[in-house]
Amino acid sequence: MPENSHEKTLAALGVTQPDQVAPLFARLLSQASAELNALASPEAFEKFRVNWFGRKAGVVTLVGDNWLKPAARELKPAVGQELNKFKAQLEAQMEARRAAIESGAKETVSVKDRVDLSLPGATRPVGSRHLVRQVFQEIEDIFVSIGFSVVEGPEIETPYYNFEALNIPEFHPVRDDMDTFYVEAAGESGPKTTPGSLLLRTHTSPVQIRTMEKQKPPVRVIVPGKVYRRDNPDATHSFMFHQIEGLAVDTDITFCDFTGTIEYFVRQYFGPSVKTRFRPSYFPFTEPSVEFDVSCIFCGGSGVAANGATCGKCKGSAWIELFGAGMVDPAVYGFVNYDAKKLSGFAFGMGMDRLAMLKYGIDDIQAFFQNDVRFLRQFP
Ligand code: DAH
Repeated sequence: MPENSHEKTLAALGVTQPDQVAPLFARLLSQASAELNALASPEAFEKFRVNWFGRKAGVVTLVGDNWLKPAARELKPAVGQELNKFKAQLEAQMEARRAAIESGAKETVSVKDRVDLSLPGATRPVGSRHLVRQVFQEIEDIFVSIGFSVVEGPEIETPYYNFEALNIPEFHPVRDDMDTFYVEAAGESGPKTTPGSLLLRTHTSPVQIRTMEKQKPPVRVIVPGKVYRRDNPDATHSFMFHQIEGLAVDTDITFCDFTGTIEYFVRQYFGPSVKTRFRPSYFPFTEPSVEFDVSCIFCGGSGVAANGATCGKCKGSAWIELFGAGMVDPAVYGFVNYDAKKLSGFAFGMGMDRLAMLKYGIDDIQAFFQNDVRFLRQFP
């Protein structure tokens, strides 16, 4: 049967008996099915639908026009029945195909958008805390464990807090060691600035004053933070470095409490075998003032290096200078309205970078500030 059989009448196709009708429709259906199964896209499906079911010139319409309408009376019932069956079957097949094409289309989309979980991702290395931060934490943990709390203060200070209230009057010679950077402060009533009225703090000691102004005794605080001095950079100096200040004030704190606390800290930090000693020193805000030393960590306090030569770190002295400290000078209490007759206390100020360098065997303070990952990675 030619493919365009629907364009001819049954008579032209030589169909004269009712039993010839069903095979005619069967062939038409298999032709439609074959076309239908080859369809892959929604567009092709639509074309097929118009071609077969289009009102004006669709195959089904033409079958009605050419086969059914002019059919001989004895053929008509069979043609009508077969035509209805044909339409129902083709419609069912089309529905199945349409669903298949749609889900196929969905699949293609999801294949395109699919994330391949087996591909290696872009690795973003996780950083670690800087050694300075780690040592801050170590030291804070030791003091917090014996009842100190951690406070902070501003890095831009007034001369009052940085010097005067710490019993360092304007022309006191210790100011020579604390040359720093002065900044212009905005005036109270507008953008006018007063040159040199503020400075970058030269030590964390001003936070002693700020803490006592805010808080009634007893006081037990440590103050970690950055400090600044007009120093030229070398292996042991930097214009910015770190300190940890300590302050304990109460009704009967003695020199023994003071040395006991410091010794406890030093043993916790450097290990149980280090020895400590203190020597008389001078700070305007402590009386008496001391300088704390530890037995040299590099030569075990012998003054002799492993190779038999004089220890280069302590220069044979067996001791390493660690930090300044002392009993709080009663004059300081006068600045914060504490009763100097009833209260006593101790204070200390440690160079944090120096403590880190001693413990971790670093011989250049600049390594802390250069951010060379080869250095940083050694302290994960
Ligand atoms: N602020 C001193 C400095 O930076 C260090 C210091 C010494 C702090 C003795 C203290 C102290 O609290 O009691 O050189």
